[in-house]
Amino acid sequence: MDQIIREDLDAIRGSIDPRAFQGKSVMVSGGSGFLGSWICDTLIGLDSRIICVDNLSTGVFENIDHLKGVKGFEFEKADVCTYSRSPKVDMVFHLASRPAPEDYQKHPVETALANATGADRMLDLARKNDARVFYASSSEAYGDPEVFPTPESYEGKVNPLGPRSSYEEGKRFGEALCKAYHDEYGLDVRIARLFNSYGPRLRAEGLYGRAISRFILQALRGDDITVFGDGSQTRSFCYVTDTVSGSLLFMSLDRSSDLVLNIGAKEECKILDLAESIKRLAFSESSIDFLPVPAGDHMRRLPDTGRTEKLLRWTPSTRLDVGLERTLKWFSSKKTSLPGPF
Ligand SMILES: NC(=O)c1ccc[n+]([C@@H]2O[C@H](COP(=O)([O-])OP(=O)(O)OC[C@H]3O[C@@H](n4cnc5c(N)ncnc54)[C@H](O)[C@@H]3O)[C@@H](O)[C@H]2O)c1
Repeated sequence: MDQIIREDLDAIRGSIDPRAFQGKSVMVSGGSGFLGSWICDTLIGLDSRIICVDNLSTGVFENIDHLKGVKGFEFEKADVCTYSRSPKVDMVFHLASRPAPEDYQKHPVETALANATGADRMLDLARKNDARVFYASSSEAYGDPEVFPTPESYEGKVNPLGPRSSYEEGKRFGEALCKAYHDEYGLDVRIARLFNSYGPRLRAEGLYGRAISRFILQALRGDDITVFGDGSQTRSFCYVTDTVSGSLLFMSLDRSSDLVLNIGAKEECKILDLAESIKRLAFSESSIDFLPVPAGDHMRRLPDTGRTEKLLRWTPSTRLDVGLERTLKWFSSKKTSLPGPF
Protein backbone atom coordinates (compact mmCIF):
# COMPACT_ATOMS: atom_id res chain seq x y z
CA MET A 1 0.00 0.00 0.00
CA ASP A 2 1.18 3.55 -0.71
CA GLN A 3 3.15 5.36 1.96
CA ILE A 4 0.78 8.35 2.08
CA ILE A 5 -2.25 6.13 2.56
CA ARG A 6 -0.43 4.11 5.23
CA GLU A 7 0.46 7.27 7.18
CA ASP A 8 -3.06 8.64 6.86
CA LEU A 9 -4.60 5.36 8.03
CA ASP A 10 -2.35 5.47 11.10
CA ALA A 11 -3.58 9.00 11.79
CA ILE A 12 -7.23 7.93 11.52
CA ARG A 13 -6.71 4.88 13.75
CA GLY A 14 -4.89 7.04 16.30
CA SER A 15 -7.99 9.21 16.65
CA ILE A 16 -10.40 6.36 17.44
CA ASP A 17 -10.94 4.09 20.41
CA PRO A 18 -10.29 0.68 18.79
CA ARG A 19 -12.58 -1.10 21.26
CA ALA A 20 -15.62 0.23 19.41
CA PHE A 21 -14.71 -1.85 16.34
CA GLN A 22 -12.51 -4.72 17.54
CA GLY A 23 -14.02 -8.11 16.69
CA LYS A 24 -17.10 -6.54 15.10
CA SER A 25 -18.62 -7.81 11.87
CA VAL A 26 -19.22 -4.89 9.57
CA MET A 27 -21.07 -4.60 6.26
CA VAL A 28 -19.73 -1.83 4.02
CA SER A 29 -21.84 -1.15 0.93
CA GLY A 30 -19.89 0.87 -1.63
CA GLY A 31 -16.71 -0.41 0.03
CA SER A 32 -14.54 -0.30 -3.07
CA GLY A 33 -15.21 3.38 -3.65
CA PHE A 34 -13.20 6.32 -2.37
CA LEU A 35 -14.58 6.67 1.18
CA GLY A 36 -15.69 3.02 1.47
CA SER A 37 -12.18 1.71 0.82
CA TRP A 38 -10.74 4.02 3.49
CA ILE A 39 -13.35 2.73 5.93
CA CYS A 40 -12.54 -0.90 5.01
CA ASP A 41 -8.80 -0.28 5.46
CA THR A 42 -9.25 1.49 8.78
CA LEU A 43 -11.57 -1.15 10.20
CA ILE A 44 -9.47 -4.11 9.05
CA GLY A 45 -6.59 -2.46 10.91
CA LEU A 46 -8.81 -2.26 13.99
CA ASP A 47 -9.54 -6.02 13.80
CA SER A 48 -13.08 -5.81 12.44
CA ARG A 49 -14.38 -8.40 9.97
CA ILE A 50 -15.63 -6.77 6.78
CA ILE A 51 -18.11 -7.74 4.11
CA CYS A 52 -17.61 -5.27 1.30
CA VAL A 53 -20.50 -5.18 -1.17
CA ASP A 54 -20.02 -3.19 -4.34
CA ASN A 55 -21.18 -3.38 -7.95
CA LEU A 56 -18.05 -1.52 -9.13
CA SER A 57 -20.14 1.04 -10.99
CA THR A 58 -18.04 3.99 -9.81
CA GLY A 59 -15.66 2.21 -7.45
CA VAL A 60 -12.57 0.36 -8.62
CA PHE A 61 -11.27 -2.97 -7.42
CA GLU A 62 -7.71 -1.55 -7.13
CA ASN A 63 -8.86 0.36 -4.04
CA ILE A 64 -9.31 -2.90 -2.15
CA ASP A 65 -7.07 -5.25 -4.12
CA HIS A 66 -4.51 -5.29 -1.28
CA LEU A 67 -7.21 -6.59 1.10
CA LYS A 68 -7.83 -9.69 -1.05
CA GLY A 69 -6.84 -12.68 1.06
CA VAL A 70 -6.51 -10.62 4.26
CA LYS A 71 -8.09 -12.43 7.20
CA GLY A 72 -11.53 -11.03 7.97
CA PHE A 73 -12.05 -9.34 4.60
CA GLU A 74 -14.66 -10.54 2.13
CA PHE A 75 -15.66 -8.88 -1.15
CA GLU A 76 -18.97 -9.50 -2.89
CA LYS A 77 -19.63 -7.99 -6.27
CA ALA A 78 -23.34 -7.22 -6.02
CA ASP A 79 -25.89 -4.48 -6.43
CA VAL A 80 -27.02 -3.26 -3.03
CA CYS A 81 -30.60 -2.94 -4.33
CA THR A 82 -30.87 -6.68 -4.96
CA TYR A 83 -28.64 -7.85 -2.12
CA SER A 84 -30.43 -10.81 -0.56
CA ARG A 85 -27.97 -12.51 1.80
CA SER A 86 -28.43 -12.10 5.56
CA PRO A 87 -24.98 -12.34 7.09
CA LYS A 88 -24.50 -11.75 10.83
CA VAL A 89 -23.34 -8.17 11.31
CA ASP A 90 -22.87 -5.74 14.19
CA MET A 91 -22.63 -2.63 12.05
CA VAL A 92 -23.70 -1.53 8.59
CA PHE A 93 -22.15 1.34 6.63
CA HIS A 94 -24.30 2.26 3.65
CA LEU A 95 -22.22 4.23 1.16
CA ALA A 96 -23.27 2.68 -2.14
CA SER A 97 -24.41 5.47 -4.44
CA ARG A 98 -23.11 7.29 -7.48
CA PRO A 99 -21.86 10.61 -6.06
CA ALA A 100 -20.60 12.72 -9.00
CA PRO A 101 -23.20 15.04 -10.61
CA GLU A 102 -22.35 14.36 -14.28
CA ASP A 103 -22.44 10.64 -13.52
CA TYR A 104 -25.62 10.44 -11.46
CA GLN A 105 -27.41 12.65 -13.96
CA LYS A 106 -26.68 9.92 -16.53
CA HIS A 107 -27.98 7.26 -14.14
CA PRO A 108 -30.74 8.96 -12.15
CA VAL A 109 -32.87 5.86 -11.55
CA GLU A 110 -29.94 3.81 -10.28
CA THR A 111 -28.86 6.71 -8.06
CA ALA A 112 -32.27 7.28 -6.54
CA LEU A 113 -32.74 3.55 -5.94
CA ALA A 114 -29.34 3.03 -4.29
CA ASN A 115 -30.54 5.52 -1.67
CA ALA A 116 -34.06 4.09 -1.47
CA THR A 117 -34.19 0.34 -2.21
CA GLY A 118 -30.49 -0.04 -1.41
CA ALA A 119 -30.88 1.83 1.87
CA ASP A 120 -33.91 -0.34 2.67
CA ARG A 121 -31.89 -3.54 2.07
CA MET A 122 -29.15 -2.32 4.39
CA LEU A 123 -31.57 -1.09 7.07
CA ASP A 124 -33.48 -4.36 6.96
CA LEU A 125 -30.24 -6.34 7.31
CA ALA A 126 -29.35 -4.17 10.31
CA ARG A 127 -32.79 -4.65 11.81
CA LYS A 128 -32.50 -8.45 11.57
CA ASN A 129 -29.20 -8.22 13.45
CA ASP A 130 -30.03 -5.32 15.76
CA ALA A 131 -26.97 -3.67 14.24
CA ARG A 132 -25.92 -0.02 14.21
CA VAL A 133 -26.24 1.81 10.87
CA PHE A 134 -24.18 4.57 9.27
CA TYR A 135 -25.91 6.28 6.37
CA ALA A 136 -23.69 8.37 4.09
CA SER A 137 -25.92 11.32 3.34
CA SER A 138 -24.66 14.49 1.76
CA SER A 139 -24.54 18.27 1.95
CA GLU A 140 -26.70 17.96 -1.15
CA ALA A 141 -29.59 16.97 1.10
CA TYR A 142 -29.75 20.75 1.76
CA GLY A 143 -30.15 21.38 -2.00
CA ASP A 144 -29.32 25.02 -2.73
CA PRO A 145 -29.15 26.34 0.86
CA GLU A 146 -29.74 29.94 1.91
CA VAL A 147 -28.17 29.71 5.38
CA PHE A 148 -24.38 29.67 5.93
CA PRO A 149 -22.75 27.98 7.65
CA THR A 150 -25.56 25.44 7.23
CA PRO A 151 -26.69 23.72 10.44
CA GLU A 152 -28.33 20.30 10.63
CA SER A 153 -31.61 22.02 11.58
CA TYR A 154 -31.82 23.72 8.16
CA GLU A 155 -34.53 21.93 6.23
CA GLY A 156 -33.18 22.49 2.76
CA LYS A 157 -34.20 24.10 -0.51
CA VAL A 158 -34.57 21.28 -2.98
CA ASN A 159 -36.35 21.00 -6.30
CA PRO A 160 -37.79 17.47 -6.57
CA LEU A 161 -37.75 17.81 -10.36
CA GLY A 162 -34.40 19.59 -10.68
CA PRO A 163 -31.35 18.25 -12.56
CA ARG A 164 -29.82 16.93 -9.30
CA SER A 165 -33.02 15.58 -7.77
CA SER A 166 -32.21 11.86 -8.10
CA TYR A 167 -29.27 12.42 -5.76
CA GLU A 168 -30.59 15.22 -3.55
CA GLU A 169 -34.02 13.73 -3.04
CA GLY A 170 -32.47 10.24 -2.96
CA LYS A 171 -30.36 11.29 0.03
CA ARG A 172 -33.35 12.97 1.67
CA PHE A 173 -35.46 9.85 1.22
CA GLY A 174 -32.59 7.69 2.54
CA GLU A 175 -32.48 9.88 5.64
CA ALA A 176 -36.27 9.68 6.04
CA LEU A 177 -36.09 5.88 5.77
CA CYS A 178 -33.36 5.76 8.43
CA LYS A 179 -35.58 7.81 10.71
CA ALA A 180 -38.57 5.57 9.96
CA TYR A 181 -36.59 2.44 10.96
CA HIS A 182 -35.40 4.28 14.04
CA ASP A 183 -38.90 5.40 15.06
CA GLU A 184 -40.75 2.18 14.21
CA TYR A 185 -38.19 -0.48 15.15
CA GLY A 186 -35.86 1.40 17.49
CA LEU A 187 -32.96 0.85 15.08
CA ASP A 188 -29.74 2.63 16.03
CA VAL A 189 -29.04 4.83 12.99
CA ARG A 190 -26.42 7.53 12.44
CA ILE A 191 -26.85 9.87 9.48
CA ALA A 192 -23.75 11.76 8.36
CA ARG A 193 -24.22 14.68 5.97
CA LEU A 194 -20.81 14.59 4.33
CA PHE A 195 -19.46 17.73 2.69
CA ASN A 196 -16.96 17.43 -0.19
CA SER A 197 -14.22 15.06 0.84
CA TYR A 198 -10.98 14.54 -1.07
CA GLY A 199 -7.71 12.69 -0.89
CA PRO A 200 -5.92 9.69 -2.39
CA ARG A 201 -8.23 7.36 -4.38
CA LEU A 202 -10.75 10.07 -5.29
CA ARG A 203 -11.61 9.29 -8.89
CA ALA A 204 -10.54 11.87 -11.40
CA GLU A 205 -11.57 10.77 -14.84
CA GLY A 206 -14.46 11.89 -17.06
CA LEU A 207 -17.93 11.59 -15.57
CA TYR A 208 -16.61 10.34 -12.24
CA GLY A 209 -14.26 13.26 -11.78
CA ARG A 210 -14.57 15.54 -8.81
CA ALA A 211 -13.04 19.03 -8.79
CA ILE A 212 -9.87 18.40 -6.76
CA SER A 213 -8.82 15.16 -8.42
CA ARG A 214 -9.75 16.47 -11.87
CA PHE A 215 -7.77 19.69 -11.37
CA ILE A 216 -4.77 17.74 -10.08
CA LEU A 217 -4.68 15.42 -13.07
CA GLN A 218 -5.18 18.29 -15.50
CA ALA A 219 -2.35 20.21 -13.80
CA LEU A 220 -0.02 17.20 -13.81
CA ARG A 221 -0.66 16.51 -17.49
CA GLY A 222 -0.41 20.18 -18.51
CA ASP A 223 -4.00 20.08 -19.82
CA ASP A 224 -6.36 23.03 -19.39
CA ILE A 225 -7.85 23.15 -15.90
CA THR A 226 -11.60 23.27 -16.47
CA VAL A 227 -13.50 25.59 -14.15
CA PHE A 228 -17.27 25.97 -14.42
CA GLY A 229 -18.53 29.56 -14.60
CA ASP A 230 -16.18 32.23 -13.28
CA GLY A 231 -15.05 30.00 -10.41
CA SER A 232 -16.57 32.23 -7.73
CA GLN A 233 -18.69 29.38 -6.37
CA THR A 234 -17.34 27.98 -3.09
CA ARG A 235 -16.99 24.59 -1.46
CA SER A 236 -15.51 23.43 1.83
CA PHE A 237 -13.11 20.57 1.16
CA CYS A 238 -12.47 18.04 3.91
CA TYR A 239 -9.40 15.82 3.76
CA VAL A 240 -10.28 12.13 3.82
CA THR A 241 -8.67 11.46 7.22
CA ASP A 242 -10.98 14.03 8.82
CA THR A 243 -14.07 12.72 7.01
CA VAL A 244 -13.33 9.12 7.97
CA SER A 245 -12.33 9.84 11.58
CA GLY A 246 -15.49 11.96 12.08
CA SER A 247 -17.63 9.18 10.58
CA LEU A 248 -16.05 6.45 12.68
CA LEU A 249 -16.19 8.54 15.86
CA PHE A 250 -19.90 9.00 15.22
CA MET A 251 -20.29 5.21 14.87
CA SER A 252 -18.20 4.54 17.94
CA LEU A 253 -20.55 6.35 20.34
CA ASP A 254 -22.46 3.91 22.53
CA ARG A 255 -25.42 6.22 22.33
CA SER A 256 -25.95 9.28 20.19
CA SER A 257 -28.19 12.14 21.25
CA ASP A 258 -28.37 13.17 17.59
CA LEU A 259 -29.54 11.24 14.57
CA VAL A 260 -27.75 13.48 12.09
CA LEU A 261 -24.41 15.31 11.98
CA ASN A 262 -22.64 17.47 9.42
CA ILE A 263 -19.13 16.22 8.69
CA GLY A 264 -17.02 18.63 6.70
CA ALA A 265 -14.35 21.30 6.72
CA LYS A 266 -14.88 24.85 7.98
CA GLU A 267 -12.62 26.53 5.43
CA GLU A 268 -14.57 27.96 2.49
CA CYS A 269 -12.70 28.02 -0.80
CA LYS A 270 -13.56 29.56 -4.18
CA ILE A 271 -13.21 27.06 -7.02
CA LEU A 272 -10.97 29.46 -8.95
CA ASP A 273 -8.66 29.79 -5.92
CA LEU A 274 -8.60 26.00 -5.66
CA ALA A 275 -7.60 25.69 -9.33
CA GLU A 276 -4.84 28.28 -8.88
CA SER A 277 -3.53 26.64 -5.69
CA ILE A 278 -3.34 23.26 -7.39
CA LYS A 279 -1.61 24.77 -10.40
CA ARG A 280 0.94 26.42 -8.12
CA LEU A 281 1.53 23.34 -5.96
CA ALA A 282 2.00 21.19 -9.08
CA PHE A 283 4.37 23.75 -10.73
CA SER A 284 2.02 23.40 -13.70
CA GLU A 285 1.97 25.41 -16.92
CA SER A 286 -1.73 24.58 -17.47
CA SER A 287 -4.14 27.36 -18.43
CA ILE A 288 -7.47 27.75 -16.73
CA ASP A 289 -10.39 27.21 -19.09
CA PHE A 290 -13.79 28.61 -18.09
CA LEU A 291 -16.76 26.44 -19.13
CA PRO A 292 -20.51 27.13 -18.84
CA VAL A 293 -22.00 26.41 -15.41
CA PRO A 294 -23.84 23.07 -15.42
CA ALA A 295 -27.58 23.26 -14.70
CA GLY A 296 -28.39 23.06 -11.01
CA ASP A 297 -24.86 23.83 -9.76
CA HIS A 298 -24.89 25.42 -6.32
CA MET A 299 -23.03 28.59 -5.36
CA ARG A 300 -21.97 27.77 -1.81
CA ARG A 301 -21.40 24.84 0.53
CA LEU A 302 -20.30 25.43 4.10
CA PRO A 303 -21.24 23.23 7.05
CA ASP A 304 -21.97 24.36 10.56
CA THR A 305 -20.01 21.71 12.45
CA GLY A 306 -20.74 23.00 15.96
CA ARG A 307 -22.99 20.07 16.88
CA THR A 308 -20.50 17.52 15.53
CA GLU A 309 -17.55 19.10 17.33
CA LYS A 310 -19.44 19.09 20.61
CA LEU A 311 -20.76 15.54 20.37
CA LEU A 312 -17.65 13.87 18.94
CA ARG A 313 -14.97 16.18 20.34
CA TRP A 314 -13.78 16.20 16.74
CA THR A 315 -12.64 18.99 14.52
CA PRO A 316 -11.30 18.76 10.97
CA SER A 317 -7.59 19.19 11.51
CA THR A 318 -6.02 19.03 8.03
CA ARG A 319 -5.55 22.42 6.42
CA LEU A 320 -6.51 22.59 2.74
CA ASP A 321 -2.94 23.29 1.54
CA VAL A 322 -1.64 20.30 3.51
CA GLY A 323 -4.36 17.97 2.23
CA LEU A 324 -3.84 19.19 -1.33
CA GLU A 325 -0.10 18.54 -1.11
CA ARG A 326 -0.68 15.00 0.11
CA THR A 327 -3.28 14.32 -2.56
CA LEU A 328 -1.05 15.78 -5.25
CA LYS A 329 1.88 13.68 -4.08
CA TRP A 330 -0.27 10.55 -4.24
CA PHE A 331 -1.57 11.35 -7.74
CA SER A 332 1.96 12.21 -8.91
CA SER A 333 3.16 8.79 -7.77
CA LYS A 334 0.40 7.21 -9.92
CA LYS A 335 0.83 9.49 -12.92
CA THR A 336 1.78 6.84 -15.43
CA SER A 337 -1.15 4.57 -14.55
CA LEU A 338 -3.78 7.30 -14.44
CA PRO A 339 -6.36 7.89 -17.17
CA GLY A 340 -6.39 10.87 -19.49
CA PRO A 341 -6.36 13.18 -21.26
CA PHE A 342 -9.98 14.30 -20.86
N1 LIG B 1 -16.86 11.92 -1.33
C1 LIG B 1 -17.62 12.92 -0.98
O1 LIG B 1 -17.19 14.08 -0.98
C2 LIG B 1 -19.04 12.69 -0.53
C3 LIG B 1 -19.80 13.81 -0.11
C4 LIG B 1 -21.10 13.60 0.29
C5 LIG B 1 -21.64 12.34 0.31
N2 LIG B 1 -20.90 11.28 -0.12
C6 LIG B 1 -21.52 9.96 -0.12
O2 LIG B 1 -20.60 9.01 0.38
C7 LIG B 1 -20.76 7.77 -0.31
C8 LIG B 1 -19.43 7.33 -0.88
O3 LIG B 1 -18.97 8.34 -1.78
P1 LIG B 1 -17.56 8.23 -2.52
O4 LIG B 1 -17.06 9.59 -2.69
O5 LIG B 1 -16.73 7.22 -1.83
O6 LIG B 1 -18.03 7.71 -3.95
P2 LIG B 1 -17.49 6.46 -4.82
O7 LIG B 1 -18.17 6.56 -6.14
O8 LIG B 1 -16.02 6.44 -4.82
O9 LIG B 1 -18.06 5.24 -3.99
C9 LIG B 1 -19.38 4.77 -4.11
C10 LIG B 1 -19.30 3.27 -4.24
O10 LIG B 1 -20.63 2.74 -4.30
C11 LIG B 1 -20.64 1.75 -5.33
N3 LIG B 1 -22.05 1.66 -5.78
C12 LIG B 1 -22.79 2.62 -6.37
N4 LIG B 1 -24.03 2.16 -6.60
C13 LIG B 1 -24.07 0.89 -6.12
C14 LIG B 1 -25.07 -0.11 -6.05
N5 LIG B 1 -26.31 0.12 -6.51
N6 LIG B 1 -24.76 -1.30 -5.50
C15 LIG B 1 -23.51 -1.55 -5.02
N7 LIG B 1 -22.52 -0.64 -5.06
C16 LIG B 1 -22.80 0.57 -5.60
C17 LIG B 1 -19.69 2.25 -6.37
O11 LIG B 1 -19.20 1.24 -7.23
C18 LIG B 1 -18.58 2.83 -5.51
O12 LIG B 1 -17.61 1.87 -5.19
C19 LIG B 1 -21.83 7.99 -1.35
O13 LIG B 1 -23.06 7.55 -0.84
C20 LIG B 1 -21.85 9.49 -1.52
O14 LIG B 1 -23.10 9.94 -1.92
C21 LIG B 1 -19.59 11.43 -0.55
